[in-house]
Amino acid sequence: MNRIAGFTLRSLWLWLILSLPVIASTRVDNPFVGAQGYIDPDYVENVNRSIAQSDTATAEHMRVVANTPTAVWLDSIAAIDGSNGRRSTLEQHLVNATKQAQGNEPVLITVVIYNLPDRDCSAKASNGTLNGLAGLKIYREDFIDRIASLFSDNRFSDLRIVTILEPDSLPNLVTNKSVADCQSAFENGIYTGGIGYALNRFSDIGNVYSYLDIGHSGWLGWDDNRTRTVDLYVDVIKSSGSLHNVHGVATNTSGYSPVEELLLPDADLMIQDLPIKSADFYQYNGMFDERDYANTLKTEFTAAGMPDQFGVLIDTSRNGWGGKNRPTKAKRKASINNYVNAARIDRRPARQNWCNQNGAGVGARPTPNPFNDGTIHAFVWIKPPGESDGTSDSTQTHADAEGKRFDSDCDPQGTTHSGNPTGAIGNAPAAGRWFHQHFDMLVRNAHPPLIK
Ligand code: BGC
Repeated sequence: MNRIAGFTLRSLWLWLILSLPVIASTRVDNPFVGAQGYIDPDYVENVNRSIAQSDTATAEHMRVVANTPTAVWLDSIAAIDGSNGRRSTLEQHLVNATKQAQGNEPVLITVVIYNLPDRDCSAKASNGTLNGLAGLKIYREDFIDRIASLFSDNRFSDLRIVTILEPDSLPNLVTNKSVADCQSAFENGIYTGGIGYALNRFSDIGNVYSYLDIGHSGWLGWDDNRTRTVDLYVDVIKSSGSLHNVHGVATNTSGYSPVEELLLPDADLMIQDLPIKSADFYQYNGMFDERDYANTLKTEFTAAGMPDQFGVLIDTSRNGWGGKNRPTKAKRKASINNYVNAARIDRRPARQNWCNQNGAGVGARPTPNPFNDGTIHAFVWIKPPGESDGTSDSTQTHADAEGKRFDSDCDPQGTTHSGNPTGAIGNAPAAGRWFHQHFDMLVRNAHPPLIK
């Protein structure tokens, strides 16, 4: 009896020990492969509002968008609980996601974690509601801990949960420390501390895959910016306890940079003895597009010690640039600027422009492993197309209840710090609110087309 009991106990231990590594390694290399994306009913509701105001042909294109997976943004503590009656709670989203499962394919839900204290330190449109070190404590306990506890609920263990962490925060520490709010966020360790904490909390949950937002090619593409970026990111990831706590990085969140500048494949092409990257539009930044940026990041992060399966996501929700102004072939022109300006797909006045851009279109549909290269894990729609980047109402100088206010980069008549037109369209509501005119334009300029 004893022997049998001893044997049973030993085999139980053996079973436990053998099964531990299995539990720890349930994460797949690329979570997007073999999964179906979550359709957010709140987003569908917004698109339906636009459909109701549109002609039949446009409405048909909008319906394709409504059937496309988009990310859920947790941009405040209230967003966990559903706010202003317009959002499902996080729990409802997760329950909905489990209900969308068909057959054996797991459902993948992408959740943007966007609530660091002193958020968006170099702009005004989306500052949020938490501040300083007191805010960091609230961020950890009332935001991240609550999210982690929902993510780890057994009811949701069959989901693949992808998190995109804190758009623009670490990129601002790389290039914008001259802005007082960014400098103090850096000195107080608010961004790095908040992100390190979140990574650590999520790392224990076997079906959560964390990706750090990493700006876009037109922001951090320069060699010196990238070097500082990789150093900073690796430090933050290490501070979370393990380099395995992130699955990769996400580029172009809410951005407009194309996946590929197809007519400008070589940044070092010489015209009149100068490389075309010296054009005003590129300012000697050789990373013309997200694909180049992603490939370079993969090489540099793995060289810095990140695991081989480290991958990159690209937000393609609004970087399509279709429509009548899309160039179809490069033409030899007398000057570099003329050559570049005629051939580039990105029609913004400047690559720094970020607010409700005119002429933009919905980009490639979410696609797992789009180049079959193990580098770009997926095209994802992180910014839900049709949600505003910021209000164009210049009288909104004080933050509203969600911490949103006017930024001059959203003024359709204004110019940015670099002296270029903002490229923004007018009548825009606060960041995150539904913006029918922008949505209508994005749908009309979709590339590839929404319906072939
Ligand atoms: C806003 C968020 C919103 C997100 C997605 C951000 O700019 O601040 O409130 O959820 O965009 O639209």
